[in-house]
Amino acid sequence: TTRVYNLTISEVAGWPDGYNRTLTVINGQFPGPLIEANMGDRLIVNVQNNGVNMTTLHFHGLYQNGTNFMDGTYQISQCGIPPGGSFTYNFTVPGQYGTYWYHSHYSTQYMDGVVGPFIIHSQEEDDLIGAMYDYDQVVLISDWYHGLSEGYLAGYLASGNENTEPVPDNGLINGAAFFNCALTPGSTCYQQDANRTVFNFERDKTYRLRVINTGGFAEINFSVDEHPLTLVEGDGVLIQPTTLHKLAVTVAQRYSVLITTNITSTDNFWVRAELIEYCFHATNPVLVDYGITGVLSYTDNANSDAPPYSNSMTAETDSWGDVAADVLCLDLNNTSIEPMIVTQAPDATVFYRVDASFQIGSYAIDLGYFNGTSWKPSSTAVLNQAYEMLAPGLSSAVVDNNSTELLNTTGPLALGVFGGNQDQYIINVPDYEVVDILINNLDDGSHPFHLHGYKFWVMGTGMGSFPYNEYGIFNTTNPMRRDTVGIQGYGWALLRFVADNPGLWPLHCHISWHLEAGLLMQFEIQPKMIAQFEPPAAWAQLCATQ
Ligand code: C2O
Repeated sequence: TTRVYNLTISEVAGWPDGYNRTLTVINGQFPGPLIEANMGDRLIVNVQNNGVNMTTLHFHGLYQNGTNFMDGTYQISQCGIPPGGSFTYNFTVPGQYGTYWYHSHYSTQYMDGVVGPFIIHSQEEDDLIGAMYDYDQVVLISDWYHGLSEGYLAGYLASGNENTEPVPDNGLINGAAFFNCALTPGSTCYQQDANRTVFNFERDKTYRLRVINTGGFAEINFSVDEHPLTLVEGDGVLIQPTTLHKLAVTVAQRYSVLITTNITSTDNFWVRAELIEYCFHATNPVLVDYGITGVLSYTDNANSDAPPYSNSMTAETDSWGDVAADVLCLDLNNTSIEPMIVTQAPDATVFYRVDASFQIGSYAIDLGYFNGTSWKPSSTAVLNQAYEMLAPGLSSAVVDNNSTELLNTTGPLALGVFGGNQDQYIINVPDYEVVDILINNLDDGSHPFHLHGYKFWVMGTGMGSFPYNEYGIFNTTNPMRRDTVGIQGYGWALLRFVADNPGLWPLHCHISWHLEAGLLMQFEIQPKMIAQFEPPAAWAQLCATQ
């Protein structure tokens, strides 16, 4: 089956929480439309950019096997779609299913509204968990800001600022939330439109909530008062059902949880998305005062006609008393999440270590670094360069010996000629390998790291230095697989993946500010295969016109 989506990007005025600002949106709506497919389908996504900035669309978590050039990463896998321009993404979705999302991968643009859910259905998933629920509901949770991200970004990257990220003004659940307009006198804020999202659910049914953190910065605790959450999926991997009360979700992670509407009461229930301020070292009195809430209302509840979501309402229900397992800003303990479909991680054949840090560089600007290199968009997309220049195979390499602790590696490789330490940090994996990548987080903040094109096994995470003496005895039987992992401040994670998907794949912190501060590196997998890609002519033309 081929499914066609037409997406037009433009700026509009909007007030998701009552506060009026400029949004960048898809088809005039925020959040963007749901994209759905069955495993194996072909998707044709026509993007028309009527916005004022460049854009690209990235389909987060998709393998794009053989279609790396459709991965949608600005100046890595493609050049930008200029204002007034268009581009068609055309790819198939074999070999994966579950909950994903799509977003602009140009600067911090997705924080302004270029985001939407992406769901892949499959028979296999249906056979395993389909009988466990009656209805399917997407729940997008995010932090929220009262102005265009480019303004906040300029402030964040200004000289003399030592990694002081913009503090969210609010958070949203499915694009809506309450905000008290009195807190921002003089602004255009429509109190009557500051309405929470209401989930009207039937009684005695089980709902699959697909919780997606589409925000730019904050890790979020998700919960529904009085309704335990049964976790069944994370990042497109089915999980042995496990019950919890609060679910910590970093930026870009997804979880499916089941809730059953079987509470005998006439209450309406808070649906909570608490921004875990501890994890991002900030406090905002607005958030402390109000939290971010939506409302669960049973459809047979006589109360449900009353506006429980009105501004003055006091809660009818109380938050779960227990804190998330996860106050250290880690993922749900990886040893407690067990994938339903058992996999065995093969032994690694290569090992790389990258140190992620923030450092004050030239002009007193604080940037993010992987092994001393801070990413900045190259003048043309790196994949286009590789495709054209390197078709016969890579011959020269700039090798450093950062990764020699355990195994001999080819080392990081810089493609092309770049100057300074703002550059492309690329690890070249010439052939099929089983890759171990150790990420040392040398920063005091936690970071959600995302690898494009793959799911990796989370072999281990911890604090302080990596226990080299224990390398080789990590559990290889059925560790959690995912595409985004949270690593706490001064912590590490050892990730393993089978490098069977050729292309240029970013590994980056998904905090939007940090990505733009350069906390991004790339894997170049089986470069010989890159020359054999068959991208459409329009792909190369994007670079010619910029
Ligand atoms: Cu959600 Cu580089 O992506």
